[in-house]
Amino acid sequence: MDHSPEQIGSSSADNRPSLGKLTRRGFIAASAATIASCKAASSTTSTGPNAPIKSTANKDYRTPSVDGPSLRNNAGNPSANFSKDAGTTFSRVLVSGNYIAITFDDGPHPQNTPRLLDMLAQRNIKATFYVIGRSVDLHPGVLRRTVAEGHEIGNHSHTHRLLSKLGDSEVRQEMKLCQDAIGRAAGVRPRTMRPPYGGLLQRQRELIQNEFGYPTILWSVDPLDWKRPGPSVVASRILTNTTAGGIVLAHDLHSQTVDAMPATLDGLLKKGFKFVTVSQLIAMKIDAGDAQASVKPTS
Ligand code: NI
Repeated sequence: MDHSPEQIGSSSADNRPSLGKLTRRGFIAASAATIASCKAASSTTSTGPNAPIKSTANKDYRTPSVDGPSLRNNAGNPSANFSKDAGTTFSRVLVSGNYIAITFDDGPHPQNTPRLLDMLAQRNIKATFYVIGRSVDLHPGVLRRTVAEGHEIGNHSHTHRLLSKLGDSEVRQEMKLCQDAIGRAAGVRPRTMRPPYGGLLQRQRELIQNEFGYPTILWSVDPLDWKRPGPSVVASRILTNTTAGGIVLAHDLHSQTVDAMPATLDGLLKKGFKFVTVSQLIAMKIDAGDAQASVKPTS
């Protein structure tokens, strides 16, 4: 079936008990209550300078129909913008300023991801989440919240297989199924991908760039948090190794990683780093000549 956000909201035939519908119903109910209370409050001021302007309803107006799924940011094809001159792979980005991107892989997780989202919201930090399509299907509400709070979503394949061992059609399938799951759950299209285990052949990177518009995103800081060395070790590894333009790898799948985040995020903020999402970081890329000029201005 079709899963465009418009149809999730409007189709009466679709009676799945999805969180989106419940939320929407709750929102409509809340809106109606607000309107009712506003009417009651304004009934005594129906004349005078602050009286509401009355206009006749345009009954001929119809909401334009949408042809097929229409996802937010679907026009922002990265291959035409930030990766045009940059190749297909980024481990870090040359930027002017103390910008970094922190990334969380292998979610969404029903407990750890929401806990992390609270920590990020408290600090007004935007992160990038490389999600597994199969987990998105299991926890779509967690992905919706992640998107609603301004974070970026990246494609981390559908089943987290080592893509370098797969044929082209299987690689396409892994990208497509994850992309579809993200669109279905949260109505957005990813802009970048990260291969599971970092394993992707150059030929496959070009195929994915050409067919999906995803640059391949690796990392410059790896705290090896998936080995569960303890929250303080995770925090100190990230704080020691992060430099401007860096891309930090972490995993919201693991509770220890999330436990490490308050100290990690506060430490990075204290060092003066400014957090952006991965596609924002790539959009800030300057060329090496500019970087040189900013260090040694010529007169
Ligand atoms: Ni992974």
